[in-house]
This record gives sequence, C-alpha cells and structure tokens, in this order.
Amino acid sequence: MTRHIGIFDTTLRDGEQSPGAGMNVDEKVLVAQQLARLNVDIIEAGFAFSSSGDFEAVHRIGREVDGPTVCSLARAKPGDIDAAWNALKGAPKPRIHTFLSTSDIHLQRQFGLTRAQALQRAVEMVTHARGCVDDVEFSPMDATRSDLSYLCEVVEAVLAAGAGTVNIPDTVGYATPAEMEAVIQTLRTRVRGCDRAVLSVHCHNDLGLAVANSMAAIRAGAGQVECTINGIGERAGNASLEEIVMGLRTRRDFYDADTRVRTEEIARTSRLVSQITGMVVQPNKAVVGANAFAHASGIHQDGVLKDKRTYEIMRPEDVGVTHSRFVMGKLSGRHAFRDELAKRGYALTEDEINTAFERFKQLADQKALFEEDLEAIVSAIVGKVPERYSLTGLSTRSGMNQKPTATVALEMDGRPAEDSGTGDGPVDAVYRTIAGLTQTKSTLLSYRVRAITGGTDAQGEVSVRVEQDGETVVGNGANTDIIVASAQAYVNALNKLELRLARRAGAGPRPC
Ligand code: KIV
Ligand code: ZN
Repeated sequence: MTRHIGIFDTTLRDGEQSPGAGMNVDEKVLVAQQLARLNVDIIEAGFAFSSSGDFEAVHRIGREVDGPTVCSLARAKPGDIDAAWNALKGAPKPRIHTFLSTSDIHLQRQFGLTRAQALQRAVEMVTHARGCVDDVEFSPMDATRSDLSYLCEVVEAVLAAGAGTVNIPDTVGYATPAEMEAVIQTLRTRVRGCDRAVLSVHCHNDLGLAVANSMAAIRAGAGQVECTINGIGERAGNASLEEIVMGLRTRRDFYDADTRVRTEEIARTSRLVSQITGMVVQPNKAVVGANAFAHASGIHQDGVLKDKRTYEIMRPEDVGVTHSRFVMGKLSGRHAFRDELAKRGYALTEDEINTAFERFKQLADQKALFEEDLEAIVSAIVGKVPERYSLTGLSTRSGMNQKPTATVALEMDGRPAEDSGTGDGPVDAVYRTIAGLTQTKSTLLSYRVRAITGGTDAQGEVSVRVEQDGETVVGNGANTDIIVASAQAYVNALNKLELRLARRAGAGPRPC
C-alpha cells in the first residue's frame, strides 16, 4: 500500500533563517494560511523563545490557521519549552519540537557537554515537553556527523521518554543519499520503539543534495520530511517542498509513497513566499522556476505539440501553473472584489479591503487584471507597516546624454516635503532624493524587478533589501510604472526599518 509521507513545512522557521528573509507577524500568518490551503501536515511556525515576534506568530498561527498541526521549535531547555507551550496554548493540534546536538564536534566544541550529559538532558527535556503536550518531536542536531551507535542510543532514549517523532537533521548538508539511507535503515533495525514512532529527516542543501538525501531517507522508511517552500533556509537552504512533493507524486511507481499536498496550490505558494521574503526564484528552479515548463528547442516544441508527454513529466496545471487567467475588470464592484479575495482565501480587514480595492480600481483603469496582479496588490497591503513616510508624488527625467533627475514628494509624519536630485540612473536619482529627504543612512543591498504578468502593460514588482545598523528588511512595491514601483519599494523598506529600529530601542517610531 502506498505510504503516506508527512510534510513538515519549516518555511516560517528555518526558511526565515535565510539571510534577509525576515517576515513580520502578519506576513507569517498569510503564509501559514496558504500552507494550510496547500494541505501540509505540520507548520513549524517559529521559535517562540527567540523573540516576541516569533512568539506572537506561533500563537496567532496556532489559533487562526485551521488544518495542520502547528509546531514551535525549542532548544532542550526548560525556558524554551515553556515559551513554546505558552505560545501554542489554544492551538487545536500543538507540537513542541525540541533539539540538542549529538555530534562530538558540537558537544565538545560548542556546548561543553559529554555524550552522557547530552543524552540525559535530551531525555529530561522530552519528558518536560510531554508534560505540556502529547505531540513531541526531538531532533538530534548534526545527526549525520554523530557516532551512529550513540545516535541510536539517544533516539531509543527519547522515544522511551515519549517523543512521537524523531527527526534526523543533516544540519550542515554533509551527508550523501547512500549515507542517509543507511542511517534510517540502521535506526529502524537497531532502535527499540522505532516501529511505533515517526522517523523524519531534515536536510540542508550545502552540497546541493538536500532533496536527494530526503528522497533516499523516504525510500529507507522515513515517514516525515522537513522542507521549505522554494528551498529557502539557513545558508544554502533546506530541501525544497515542491521538489519532494512532485518527486513522490510523479514517481509514485518508484517510491510507493505520496503526500496529501494539494499540488495545484504549489505555484501560488511559491510566488507568495518569494514576494514576501524578497527571495527571487531562479528561472531554472525545478517545479516552480519560470522556465520549468518552457520548451525552447524546436525538437522539444514539436514533440510537445504532438503529445505533451513527450517532454513533460508533470502537467503545469498540476502545480498550479496556468496561463494567467483574466479575473476581473474595471467594471467589477467592491462586492465582487471582496468575493474574489475570499475565494482565494485572503482574510483582510475592512480597511485593508478598501485600500486594496482603491489600488485595484487604479490598476484596472490601465490594464486587464490577472490572478497574479491581485496577489501583488494584497501582499503589498498585508506587508504594510505604520507609515512614517509615504510617497505622494514622483517625476523623473532621463534619456540619452542627460543627467537623470528625480523630483520626489513625500509625506513625513503627516507633513509634506519635496526635493529634487540626480543620480546614475532614474532609480538611483529617486533613491538618493528619498534618502536625502528622509535623512536616512541605509545601505541598499539588492534591487530586483520582475514583471508580474506578461506584456508591456504588466505590473512591475520591485523588491529591495536594505540594511541599517544591523537590521535588514525587504521592501516591496508594485505598479505599471517601474520607477514608481521602485520608489514604493524603497519607502516601504524605510518604514519597516524605522519600525525595527524603534522596536529595538524599545520605543515607537522616531519623530522627525
Ligand atoms: O538544521 C537543523 O539541525 C535544524 C534543527 C533545529 C532541526 O534546523
Ligand atoms: Zn535546519
């Protein structure tokens, strides 16, 4: 019988550890709602002890998102476990995921623990977590570089202490598929209690093997995989959810295993995570890259026209890639707009709907609107932060043989301000002028622009990553004029920075 493989999504925890991919609480809730539509089994919503934002995210996702089990990470420390439990209270299906290293290099060089001390602490903390919830997962961190006999001993002990899931992390992406298979097989044959528990894997992609290692572990009997949307995560990232899910679905003949994921939601989830984190998906990325279903060679095109199966092993519609469907036009009313958002699962407040509708009307006057346009409008609104600065006017002059010039009007703390400046290009002129007006000293780390829908009337979506005093944020903007979208993205980033720096200083946003 086909085995069910549990999908444990850690986009909101390990995924958020990607440098610069930080999300605010509202954004996390939005992603979690989409993960529920995708039908993942478990959402790791954060690391409750690590910050008040993570605590709130775990708390809200546990209460507001229906369907999946909601999990918080916790180090093997009573304070962490108690914070996880407090954040999870009220969630219908809570899980605590606690972890402690088992490799000698971590124990000796980082934590100063002997193997015996680590084993004892792992057992005590699993017992402590079981005092709070029934569903406890334990991860022996750096498992793949741990002594295998010791790993077996730890796994057996935490199972006996009440862990229902033991997750084997390849923390530094060091393992090979054959090794991963061997570890799972060894645990299954040597460890008492393994047959009554779920064995899970969590693979990092440092050598590009995260998905291959996860698939090898599934072949060897793992019943859960930890993965992220678009493969984002610490350093080179985690195993990519969409690749594992489609690998199992497409090669069910080989793996005899499958997930409950609604694959038609994959493309949309990938776009949402990319928009919110500012982490662009490479065009040749398997399953969700822009070229994943594009056939360039004449021979391939000929084959696909005759029978798609000649060169397509998955149907684009199975992962939610369809030709952009026309959704609404300028004659659509507020009611229809609200219904369309609800159909797509967006739960916005009345104020947010009004703002979204205004933006929709402006855009619908200029062009036909597609599903992706709606998503861009919504994510720009939900990702909004209190606005110290707002863009009220913009004009630029540029061309061959003339110095690019920008005139920018802002409202700053409710007061109008305007200035002009020059730069190396129109966007540079706009950014320099905004920086001058706001007297901010941030550094632009990256600037990305993408056409959301096809055609020269497409909405351009700009995403910038900006840093100041050790805080990095992503700002987004979307407009049919990419210079305006660029200005919006930069102003959005400055507002986020303002909020972060003020929170760090323990105050509200600074007055002008
Ligand atoms: O990579 C890792 O080891 C982790 C653990 C916390 C599971 O993320
Ligand atoms: Zn990890």
